[in-house]
Formats: sequence, C-alpha cells, structure tokens
Amino acid sequence: MIITIDGPSGVGKSTVSKAVAEKTGCIYLDTGAMYRAIALKTATSGIDIGSETELSKLLDSTSVGFRRNPDGGLSILLDGEDVAASIRSPEISRLSSDVATKRPVRVKLVAIQREIGSSGNIVAEGRDMGTYVFPGADFKFYLTATTEERARRRWAQLREAGREADLAEVERELLTRDRQDSERAESPLHPSPNAVIIDTTNLLTDEVISRIISAVQG
Ligand code: DC
Repeated sequence: MIITIDGPSGVGKSTVSKAVAEKTGCIYLDTGAMYRAIALKTATSGIDIGSETELSKLLDSTSVGFRRNPDGGLSILLDGEDVAASIRSPEISRLSSDVATKRPVRVKLVAIQREIGSSGNIVAEGRDMGTYVFPGADFKFYLTATTEERARRRWAQLREAGREADLAEVERELLTRDRQDSERAESPLHPSPNAVIIDTTNLLTDEVISRIISAVQG
C-alpha cells in the first residue's frame, strides 16, 4: 500500500505522516529529508549548484538512503552517516528548496524513492509524491493551511527546538520557499487531481490524522 501526503512547508505534514504510518503499520518516507541531505552536501563541499557539471559530479559521488531503526522508523543517511541533526536549520531549508529545482537532483532522489516504494507499505511525504513519484498511489492527501497559520506553526516548532525565531521572518522565508517549490519547472508543488485536500487551518493535528485514517480504513 502507498499513501501519499503532500503540501507546502509548515503545514504539519511530518507529524501527520509519522502518525499515519504508525497507525497503518507502514514505513514513513520523509522525502524532504533527502533533498535536505543533498543541500547539506552541497553546502559542505562548497560547490556552485548553478553549475550542472559540478552538481552532477557531486551527485555521482553521493549516496542518500535510510537506515531502519529498532522502532521501525527510518533515519536519513548521507554517504552512510546519520545527518538528521544537521538538516533542519533555516539555511538548509532554504538551500534544499534551491537544490530541489535541479533536475539531476530530482532524477537521483526519485529513483531511490520509487525503489523504497516498491519494497513495502509506505506513507510518502513530500511535494510531488501524488503527482509524480507515485501517481498510482492507493490513497493521496494534500494538506493546506493559511500562510499565517503555517508560519505560526513553524515558528512554534523552532522555539520548541530552542532556536531564536522572528515570526515575520519565518513567514517571509516560508513564502519564498512556497513560491520556488510551486513555480519550478520540475515537479512543482500542486495537488494531484485525485488527492483528498484537507485544509488544516482550523483543525487539531489529531483531527487531521483521524480524517486520513478514516479515509484509508474506509
Ligand atoms: O518537506 P521539507 O521542508 O523537509 O522539504 C525541504 C525542501 O525539499 C522543500 O522546500 C522542497 C523540497 N522537496 C521537494 O522538492 N520534493 C519533495 N518530494 C520533498 C521536498
């Protein structure tokens, strides 16, 4: 079974997707973490991502994958190393949206995502899961919320993680990333025509999860 959950930044996809995976006995596939891992690699190697040659060379010598943990979850690996703790900064968020516009990056990561999808039951979270990576998914969901609400959620998340954050700045960053993710040529963010759209602005996380579970379990 493949369940896809797409939507813009800060809409609460990760929390919802993790819970849905747990309740349905599926593996949670965080595809954003894969773009973030590539962003981290480009940042540490100092290459110019505008250069196709440099980017392709870097991708050829880069491996992105997951390791299965004892709790059944997956940890993101970059060149064999767990990089979960290094990919959530605002800088990597920005850069991940930039690298996600690059075709060679998408081609590489989509192949890995499809391979993981072919090997078991998954909840795949991202921007193009229902539209491009798994067009034949069994269940497709697209989460939305107002920009203000998404910024507020992201801001609260950052504060919870002990980071200083300015709400207006968080909202500006979110809008920039939304624009780039929705307007790029390669697999832009938009709902699949057969996705169930859930506006989460006035819903509690548990309500979003229940709606998805009800739809999946019938
Ligand atoms: O979901 P996230 O914030 O971790 O994603 C980081 C960036 O990666 C996001 O700005 C766009 C890109 N992304 C993508 O293009 N396609 C996906 N399936 C997942 C993420």
